[in-house]
Amino acid sequence: MELPLELVNALRLAQRVTVLTGAGVSQESGLRTFRDAQDGLWAQYRPEDLATPQAFQRNPKLVWDWYAWRREKVCQAKPNPAHYALAAMAKRIPKFTLITQNVDGLHQAAGSPRVIELHGNIRRVRCSVCAQVLSQWDQPPDDVPRCPSCNGLLRPDVVWFGETLPQAELEAAFEAAQHCELFFSIGTSGVVQPAASLAYFAQQHGARIVEINAEPTPLTPFADFALQGKAGEILPALVKSAFLAQIT
Ligand code: APR
Repeated sequence: MELPLELVNALRLAQRVTVLTGAGVSQESGLRTFRDAQDGLWAQYRPEDLATPQAFQRNPKLVWDWYAWRREKVCQAKPNPAHYALAAMAKRIPKFTLITQNVDGLHQAAGSPRVIELHGNIRRVRCSVCAQVLSQWDQPPDDVPRCPSCNGLLRPDVVWFGETLPQAELEAAFEAAQHCELFFSIGTSGVVQPAASLAYFAQQHGARIVEINAEPTPLTPFADFALQGKAGEILPALVKSAFLAQIT
């Protein structure tokens, strides 16, 4: 893997690095990206038609079952070398911030110490009435579970299209983008706001942009380093070259 020496040296010397990941970093764990076609029963639906408050209002069982299907896939998935490489980076860079749009919890599973989850986490649920967040719940055999406190319908603790992002996480993400030397955009198509603005915001504040993605995106022309390929191959090679460390 031919890596730009300037990037390897910049990473080795970096004191503050911020990373934004998208579904592409979990693709090599066997999880479909958002723009991948859906399979089986769900092939007839588009995520945009299911991941919305209106869809849940209209047909809570359909939306709940789609997330139950995705949660099962997430729970079977294992972190891949891209996740481990980012966890290794966090150990070697003084000020390292990992922001993710993913809801699969695989960064935490790979040992990343602190993860800013912009779009929530599919392994948690939240009451659609009183907003209580739960990591476990009583699952009726074939119905949408209800809140133990107020009996409201439970929903996935994720951000749906048209919903606002968690304020604290969003502020932390922009703060980390504002104060970094290198901003990595990894495995994301860079089309969903406000996450897609973070890289430009970082660049406006002096950061150099590193994009690692399987295909070009709107960010590619603005990136200082654009590495096209698989995150599970490029990231371990980059971390190894910069820190001469083996990635588990
Ligand atoms: N390595 C690197 N990049 C990859 C890999 C891989 N192995 N596999 C796929 N990719 C790239 C694809 O080329 C694509 O550009 O990852 C990107 C994934 O883009 P999307 O599917 O749009 O996922 P993402 O950018 O995370 O979507 C952002 O949109 O649907 C909403 O809330 C949802 O968090 C999601 C947000």
